[in-house]
Amino acid sequence: MKLNPSCWPLRTRYGLKISKSFTIIYSSPYIFCSLISYYLAASIYLMALIAPSLLSANFLRLEQDCQMLNESEADWFHLDVMDGRFVPNISFGMLIIEYIRKTTKKICDVHLMILEPEKYAEAFKAAGADVLTVHIEACTHLHRNIQQIKSLGMQAGVAVNPHTSISLLQDVIADIDLVCLMSVNPGFGGQKFIPQTINKIKELRKMINEKGLNVKIEIDGGVTLENAPEIIAAGADVLVAGNTVFKASDPTATIAALKKL
Ligand code: DX5
Ligand code: ZN
Repeated sequence: MKLNPSCWPLRTRYGLKISKSFTIIYSSPYIFCSLISYYLAASIYLMALIAPSLLSANFLRLEQDCQMLNESEADWFHLDVMDGRFVPNISFGMLIIEYIRKTTKKICDVHLMILEPEKYAEAFKAAGADVLTVHIEACTHLHRNIQQIKSLGMQAGVAVNPHTSISLLQDVIADIDLVCLMSVNPGFGGQKFIPQTINKIKELRKMINEKGLNVKIEIDGGVTLENAPEIIAAGADVLVAGNTVFKASDPTATIAALKKL
């Protein structure tokens, strides 16, 4: 996000506000320098992590696509696992993730769109997952699933579908590392961003800030260069991007452009 004085007061991830009183104390060099440093720190902090979704990669040249991500400014690899039961599509499983893991040192962010994820958590850890996200709608015993993921040494994420209220996260939010807000109905890449997600991001950011937690908000589905600024401004930390990256004429430049927002 650019530091544009016209958008003051600026909200930071810590819920602080920088007011226009900046101009009043402008004359003091010490305070001026401190504020400039604060602004620089805030702008770095506001930079979202970019997690390209390999679902949109070319699987005939998967290694080259992984290499491209390695050399790009992408932060995470987003890996979508679908079982044809929780979602109406089947993608790939631990074998492919194991191969992808060998190509990269970046964070492997595994998004499980499957029923009974507890049966496979250990196998995904063995395949190389760093972050393991399960769907709230797929877990009868969500708290137990989270404990299992953490006890296996992975970061725990909970994904919520567009129709699911984030108020359902109240009792587990302190136990997790990430909330994946679905901004499309899960199952397919290349869908259109659901605008109501913006309100959900703001509501979730408020909940996280009020509880003083360090939980990342990830937005998954329909993220583009056009809507990303609004998504970041609403409070997102991680942007998943499938088609926007892999269908671009220059994926590396597109990742860099997302990173600069
Ligand atoms: C959808 C997946 C997404 C998908 C995003 O069910 O969870 O990660 O790959 O793709 P785009 O960015 O093309 O909407
Ligand atoms: Zn995903």
